[in-house]
Parts: sequence; structure tokens; C-alpha cells
Amino acid sequence: MWGLYLAAVDINSYSTWLEIDLNAIRNNVAKVKDLTGVEVMAVIKANGYGHGARPAAQAAVQGGATWCGVARIEEALALRRAGISCRLLVLGYTPPSKIPEAIDQQITVSLFDPELTHSYLEFARINGGILKAHVKVETGMGRLGMLPEDVPDFLKSLRGGPIHVEGIFTHFAQADEPQSDYTRRQISIFNRLLDELRSADLKPQIVHAANSAAVINFPEAWYDLVRPGDAIFGMAPSPQTPLGSDFRPALAWKARLISVRTYPKGSGISYGSRYVTSGNERIGVMPIGYGDGYRRIDNQQVLVGGKRVNVVGRVCMDQCMLQLDEVPEAKVGDEVVLIGSQGDETISVDEVAARWSTINYEVVCGLADRLPRIYLE
Ligand SMILES: Cc1ncc(COP(=O)(O)O)c(C=O)c1O
Repeated sequence: MWGLYLAAVDINSYSTWLEIDLNAIRNNVAKVKDLTGVEVMAVIKANGYGHGARPAAQAAVQGGATWCGVARIEEALALRRAGISCRLLVLGYTPPSKIPEAIDQQITVSLFDPELTHSYLEFARINGGILKAHVKVETGMGRLGMLPEDVPDFLKSLRGGPIHVEGIFTHFAQADEPQSDYTRRQISIFNRLLDELRSADLKPQIVHAANSAAVINFPEAWYDLVRPGDAIFGMAPSPQTPLGSDFRPALAWKARLISVRTYPKGSGISYGSRYVTSGNERIGVMPIGYGDGYRRIDNQQVLVGGKRVNVVGRVCMDQCMLQLDEVPEAKVGDEVVLIGSQGDETISVDEVAARWSTINYEVVCGLADRLPRIYLE
């Protein structure tokens, strides 16, 4: 994994790189905090949605996040090793054998299964110390979580032991659909449980539920803390749930032309020679392929000289070819933009996601480790 700060690098020495705007992340976290008025847990799993976990966590904390959420304990431990000292919650599964490290490194784990929790108790007793935990409740996501009716007895059973349940949370399946009745039903199931826990004096201190979509669409689900991921990187959770204009995309993907050549009519371009020039055509090569997380599909575009140009022929592992007739002045060394702006043109992550028939989350999470991440302060 490469992570470099712009001030420390000669950008001309890279043939492709990701530019990550840390100020955008700071700004976006601050916007979420201002909007909701509650604590923010920046969700930075999967290498900070491809942006780089440590710099993303650092920027999120600078923007006002008090927590970071990750999927796996290894991600939390890596953040601790990198000096991130904010509260950390593992949102997914933690193997029991990792509980001693969770205790020692002050990492909070999620509880969603009584048997697994029993193993955690054993490891915690042997290790000594208190394991901090949040209980995850299944209200309609159909993934991980305790059934609401099992939660009160579960919480009672943990009283006085080495697991301190300081939080309770749920996750939404359809919050990116504004006005979704399904989400309202999830909220009301969760609220009913919270009421019951309150009356039995069992309610954990911190209640949370809202991902980016619920930050935007469901203020009633903000509770004590919100858990946005996509929005802090300036990406909209879905086309139906756009971000306000005060959120800024944090990532751009750039490259340089490494070859430009005019091919005569009838020349085959790339594997399978599926693209054949129909006259003299200027063809550029950019050093990016499916080995970088670019998709091996037809009909893709990038920006060169402030204009949209087509990717032609098969995308290779490390390279692909561009039809440059629209930009006759293009030459070796010129900048190519795959995601981001150049001149008056922009290719957004959402546009790329639409071409790839997927969501912006998958585009950024799939950006390969070998792409250097250059951080703009
Ligand atoms: C449990 C949980 N909370 C919060 C998030 C953040 O979601 P989003 O990136 O849509 O804000 C995720 C991400 O998938 C998640 O799994």
C-alpha cells in the first residue's frame, strides 16, 4: 500500500495515481456533525473505502469524528498500530482468540450471537480486563444481529461480567429510499426494544443506527451517534439520495499517456483485435488495466485535454488504449482523468459505477493496492 503526501512527491514521476483530498473528508465529516448534532463514527472499513484507512481516519477525526468503524479486528489493530487513538468499533465478526488484543488495544467489538459472546467471556476472563462491546440488533437487514426479543435476557446475563455493553445498534436495508416504509418499520422495531430496555434499566448508553443514507433521509434514526461511510468520502448512497452540494468528493483517479501513435486503417487494437481502426487513428496508451481495479468492459470514457475520449479494444491487465482523434494535441506525458475533473468536464464515481453496472462503493473499494495514493492536505 502506497500513501504519500503531495508536498513530498514529484507527481511527474507517477504514471497513475489516486489523489485523495483530505480536506474534503474533514469537510464532509464536519457537515454530518453540523447536520445531525450528534457524535460521528466514520466508517472506514475496506481500507477507508479504498481511500487509505489511516489518512482517512486521521482526517475524519480532524473533521470531528470521535469514533471509527471497521469491519474486522485486523483493520482496527492496523489503525492502532498507525497511531489512531479514537474509539474504534468492529462492526462485523471478531474471532474469540482476538479478544485479548481487543481488550489491550481498547477496541470495541460487536455482539450478535450468544454462543460467540460466551467464547468472548472465556477469553476475557483468562486475559483479565474489560471488553467493551456494542450489541447489534437484527431489525430487518437480514444479516447479523440478535433478535430483539432475545436482547433483554442477553443483556441481563452479561451484567457484572468482563464484557461491558456500552452501545446498541442496528443497520438499515433500504434507508437510501427516501420515505421508505421498510426503514420506518425497522426504526419502530428498534424503538420498541429501546423502550423495553429503558423500563428494565438495561439500555446501553450509546444508541446508533444511521448509515449515510439515514443521515440524509431519516433524522429520527440519528439517536446518539451516526455511522456514515460513503458520505464522508463525498459519495451519494444512491441516485435517489443525493448529497447536499456542500459535500465534496475526496477521490480522483489520474494517469499519464505513455504512448501515442497513429495507426493506419485496418489496424487491430489490443487482445482479440476487436477494435479495428477505420482510417488513420491516433491511439494513446494509458498504464491502467483490470490489475488496478479498472473494469474489463466496453464503452468506457476518460478525460484527455479536457475532452471525453473512448477507451477502445480490450482492457488489458496493466494497460488500455484510448481513441485520441478528438484531442489531436495530446502527447505522451499528458494527464488522463478516469475519475475527477479536467477543464470543464467531470467523470464522477457514479458515472463509472453506472457504466460498470454497480454502485460507487464497489468502484472505490476495488481500487488496487498498487495504485499510489497521493494525499492532498
Ligand atoms: C454496519 C454498518 N454501518 C454503517 C455503514 C456505513 O454505510 P454507508 O457507507 O452507506 O454510510 C456500513 C457500511 O456498509 C455498515 O456495514
